[in-house]
Parts: sequence; structure tokens; C-alpha cells
Amino acid sequence: MQLLDGTSCSQEIRQEIAEQVKTITKNGDRPPHLAAVLVGSDGASQNYVAWKVKDCEEVGFASTTIRMNESTTEDELLAKIDELNTDENIDGFIVQLPLPAHIDENKIILAIDAKKDVDGFCPENIGNLCLGLPTFISATPNGIMELLRRYNIETKGKNCVVLGRSNIVGTPMAILMSRNTNPGNATVTLAHSRTENLTELCASADILIVAIGKTEFVTAEMVKEGAVVIDVGQTRVTDASKKSGFRNVGDVDFDNVKEKCSFISYTNGGVGPMTRASLLQNTLKAHQRR
Ligand code: GUN
Repeated sequence: MQLLDGTSCSQEIRQEIAEQVKTITKNGDRPPHLAAVLVGSDGASQNYVAWKVKDCEEVGFASTTIRMNESTTEDELLAKIDELNTDENIDGFIVQLPLPAHIDENKIILAIDAKKDVDGFCPENIGNLCLGLPTFISATPNGIMELLRRYNIETKGKNCVVLGRSNIVGTPMAILMSRNTNPGNATVTLAHSRTENLTELCASADILIVAIGKTEFVTAEMVKEGAVVIDVGQTRVTDASKKSGFRNVGDVDFDNVKEKCSFISYTNGGVGPMTRASLLQNTLKAHQRR
């Protein structure tokens, strides 16, 4: 079993990006600039945004965090998006999800200019992804593709099961894995909560990508001997023994599954750092496309 080390892969990517930023600024241009909008005080979201800012600093990007109260109205958030869409000094921005329940996430995503949608969530970017046209690929699926690429994992002709059909991860992941690319060219099944015979289906997968948001949902009997297992899950559970008071638990029962795998990613240091590195790649792309 080999661990898919997203921490070291993402470090390589950040170094590559930092080199490109040096060239950009040496040529007299300003560095790429990412903005993040954070509405409310969700603990996990605050951490994610803080990491994104730290990543920007590390590679030499400019970054701006816009904090808005939990009680921010949909119109106020839309006005902020309008501002960011037209701000020439900002190459790309994200609105951290989830948003408070009184705000319609779809309405917000639709308001983001596709050229600045470095999350790759808006219809134009998802449509381009489906058509194989240049686009911003959403960060988590893109990070997983990068992990597969950097570990030279053969995907062509393999059975790939993607567990979870979210707009952010499962759906774009299934599209990417089925495309005529490397990695890609897999035979993909997009499975979800209504899928029948899930255990048998997962156990037939050469590559199992799990983004279902249920802690330790994938058990050893659901995994084929020699499979590649990628765990996107990161659920916070209370843990009094930790200084933070919580720990992150994945969607895969790692301890019991790992011995069956050829490659496996662990919740911490697996997909998460790759997602963050992909956001930097998209921001660099947005800067180049200006
Ligand atoms: N919440 C969880 N993952 C993401 C992400 O990739 N982008 C944004 N904007 N919000 C998220």
C-alpha cells in the first residue's frame, strides 16, 4: 500500500507556482490576486479561508479576505460580488460555502463572472468542463486528477466508482474521469444515496473516489484488493483529547481499508492540500487570461 501524499504533492505545485510568480513580477506585472468572501462564522470555513490566505502568501499572490456577518442579506452579498466582478485588481474570487440558510447558494454562484470563478462552480465553467473546453475545473476534482497524474496511476479502461454526486466534487469528478485524457478514460459510475447494491458496486471498482460526507462509510468489504481509494471526506467530530476540541474524520474506514489498497489517501494530508493547490493554479490561470 502506498499513501497518496497530498501534502508533498501540493508543496511541489506551490513551488512551481511561486517560480511563475517571480517571472511575472520580474516582468513588471502585479502578482495574481485572489479574494475570498466569508459569510458568517462557521469554524471549518474560517479555517479553510485562513489556509487559502496562507497559501497565497507562500507563493507570492496578493489576497483579500472579505468577512461579512451571518445576517448579511442576499442583496448585500450580490452587491459585493458585483464589486469583485468589476475590480480590475482582483483576478479571481471565491465565496466560501456553505452560506447561511437564508441565502440561495445557486443565486450567488450564478452572479459570479465566469472569468473570475476560480472555484469553477458557475454554469459556463461546468459546461466547458463537460465539453472539454478551457475552463476553471473545480478545485477538489482537479486536485484529485493531479494526485493521480503525479503518482502515475493508470486510469485508462479502469472501473471508477465515484461515491457522491455533489456539484462541487462528485459530478465534475465523474466527468473528468470519463474524458479522453490522462488521467481519465475510465469507465465511470456515479453512485449516490439511492444506488442499489452499493457494497458490490464499490467492491468492483479499480478506483474508488469517496465524497459522500458520511464518516467511515466505506468499509473493507466495499473495497477490491489492489484498488486505489481516494477519500474526500472531512467531517469534524468532537474529540476532547485534541487541543482544538475536534478531529477530522474521513468517509473511509482508513485503518481497515488501507491494507487492501494499492494506493490510498488519508483524510489529513490527502485531498485537502491538493484542493488548495488547485485553487492557486486556477488563480494563476485567471491572471494569465486577463
Ligand atoms: N466549501 C467546501 N469546499 C469548498 C470549495 O472548494 N469552494 C468554496 N467556495 N467553498 C467550499
